[in-house]
Amino acid sequence: MLSNLEQQPADALLALIKLYAADSRGDKIDLGVGVYRTDDGGTPVFGAIKAAEKKLLETQDSKAYLGPEGDMGFVHALMPFIFGKQDPSKGGRIDGMQAPGGTGAVRLAVALAKKAGVKRVWMGTPSWPNHAQILADLGLELKTFVHAGKAGLADMDSLRTALNLAEPGDAVLLHGCCHNPTGIDYTPAQWDEIAPLLAEKKILPLLDLAYQGLGEGMEEDAYGVRRVLAEVPEALIAYSCDKNFGLYRDRVGALYVMAQDADTLGRALSNGHSLARAAWSMPPDHGGAAVRLILEDADLTAMWLAELDTMRTRMRQVRARLAQAGQAGAVDLKPLGSQNGLFSILPLNADQILALRNDCGIYMAGSGRINVAGLTMGNIDKFIADVAKVSA
Ligand code: LMR
Repeated sequence: MLSNLEQQPADALLALIKLYAADSRGDKIDLGVGVYRTDDGGTPVFGAIKAAEKKLLETQDSKAYLGPEGDMGFVHALMPFIFGKQDPSKGGRIDGMQAPGGTGAVRLAVALAKKAGVKRVWMGTPSWPNHAQILADLGLELKTFVHAGKAGLADMDSLRTALNLAEPGDAVLLHGCCHNPTGIDYTPAQWDEIAPLLAEKKILPLLDLAYQGLGEGMEEDAYGVRRVLAEVPEALIAYSCDKNFGLYRDRVGALYVMAQDADTLGRALSNGHSLARAAWSMPPDHGGAAVRLILEDADLTAMWLAELDTMRTRMRQVRARLAQAGQAGAVDLKPLGSQNGLFSILPLNADQILALRNDCGIYMAGSGRINVAGLTMGNIDKFIADVAKVSA
């Protein structure tokens, strides 16, 4: 039977990791996969995570199974950060379960939406390529609208048209903050317009919050999610700790469900549990337990938030430097200054992206997406000069 299978291409983004590693040039620059880097180019383990892991090593007395919902202490400890300190469960209408990373959370959200009867999902493009892949794998119809409009801003007209065409029972997938791959987030005023539209049109929001704290701040980055939840009766929220706790390979995420009442919530989550049981049985524990230990301890929480501040400040400095450069050949770098998070898209064609890789040792996704955290004060001038060279 296996000979029936056709060869699949390697995931284009993940393949860059290996291509970059195999490049022996000393001045190569990795702007590929979305991991944070310090100004030295490293991706160190957070100090708060190291401290929590030490505590875990000393105090964990069992590794026996927990169940498909994972570590509920972890799930609940995050809720005030996501949904607000005041009544984070909205009177018992929001609860969640642990998932293997943000991808596991998105997959579970889509599978649950499908089980609830959703057939079509609307999504702005470009989006994280895995979004479309997950939707296709689960057999949902994808309808697209344009997310990235002119001058590096969100195309609200395209979103409005899409929401008008959507039918009750459709879902819309929105990035909570730090849009991947464009860095173009909705402003608070735009969320204020979007949230009631979703309610009016009876569209189920699938909110992907994978970069909280890396845009403008933990509170600021939750604005869109909170604004939507204030308007709609129900929603699914996929959360990732892979970036804001630097736990990438430990796969730490959660799916939150908001339902109309506690009864519906319990039923929805029981479906989440059975979907998880059939897929991965239960999520990996280690990273989630470390996050819980941080959030249960005021000093470790402060340490983690300070580390997150440092990351965000550095990325804003990189963005400011790019914006200040203005024009690099045909590429206008100014919009990058006001975009958020790890990513922005440069308007480069396939030949220019390949020339940057082959001739300059600069690695970026085929879409022209760059991970701005791969730029340092030591390599940013070379980057700007090389972009100018290939795009002139
Ligand atoms: C990215 O987009 O680079 C990250 O979200 C990593 C991934 O899994 O694609």
